[in-house]
Order: sequence, then C-alpha cells, then structure tokens
Amino acid sequence: MDPLQQAALAVRLHARAVYSNFLVGAALEEDSGHIFTGCNVENATYGLTVCAERVAVFKAISEGAWRFRRIVVAADTDTLTPPCGACRQILWEFCGDIEVVLINLHGKTESFRMSELFPRPFDAKYLE
Ligand code: THU
Repeated sequence: MDPLQQAALAVRLHARAVYSNFLVGAALEEDSGHIFTGCNVENATYGLTVCAERVAVFKAISEGAWRFRRIVVAADTDTLTPPCGACRQILWEFCGDIEVVLINLHGKTESFRMSELFPRPFDAKYLE
C-alpha cells in the first residue's frame, strides 16, 4: 500500500475521540516526500476539538515545511469522509491546490484537488 495511506490509517488509531467515537487520521506529504501525520483530538468542551487534517498541517508548518503535494484522510465510513469547512480553509491557505485522497478501512479511495473541494476561496489576495 501507498506509504502515505498507511501513515493515515496508522495515525488514525491515535485519535482522542471519546465523545464522537469517530476516529480520523491524516497524512500530509511535503514536496520532499517527508510525511507529517495528525489525528483528531477532542476535548470535554467539544468546541476545542481539532481535526486530524489541521493537526497534520500545523505539525508540518511548525517543523518548517513549506510546500506540499498530497494529503490522505482516513476514516471508517462507506461514504468517504472529506475535510470539514474549517480544514478546507486551512489546507487551501497552507497547502494550496494539493491532491486530497480519501480512504476508508476497506481500501476504498477517492481523489480530489483542493480547488474542487474549495472553489472560490477567501485568501490573502483579498487583504492586499
Ligand atoms: N473530524 C476530523 O478529524 N476530520 C474530518 O475530516 C471530519 C471530522 C473529526 C472531528 C471530530 O473529532 C470528529 O471527527 C467528529 O466530527
């Protein structure tokens, strides 16, 4: 299996999801091939929950990564789980028009570009 998919499935098992029981893993690939992973981390106040995708992006940014080419999102759903709206905003801003691969535990996969999932984004160019 693709190492990026393997990484997303493996990190999903670290999810702290005692409130939703919905475990998600994400693996973000830098242009260099380096992989940054993330899982969802929930909190008793619910609203402070951070999704797997944002954990992966923020880990990558905080380690000095700049350019990315793909992210894999793994969840245990028949209809593959896409990034939420907040994650799309963050993925667009920090990763641009990368490939987004959705997978489940049975090997089903689907692939999108960020520009398909997040058309007409608000981004830094509006602030110029
Ligand atoms: N979640 C993610 O981590 N990524 C997604 O793409 C969808 C939702 C998390 C947030 C929360 O911990 C749980 O899944 C249920 O919404």
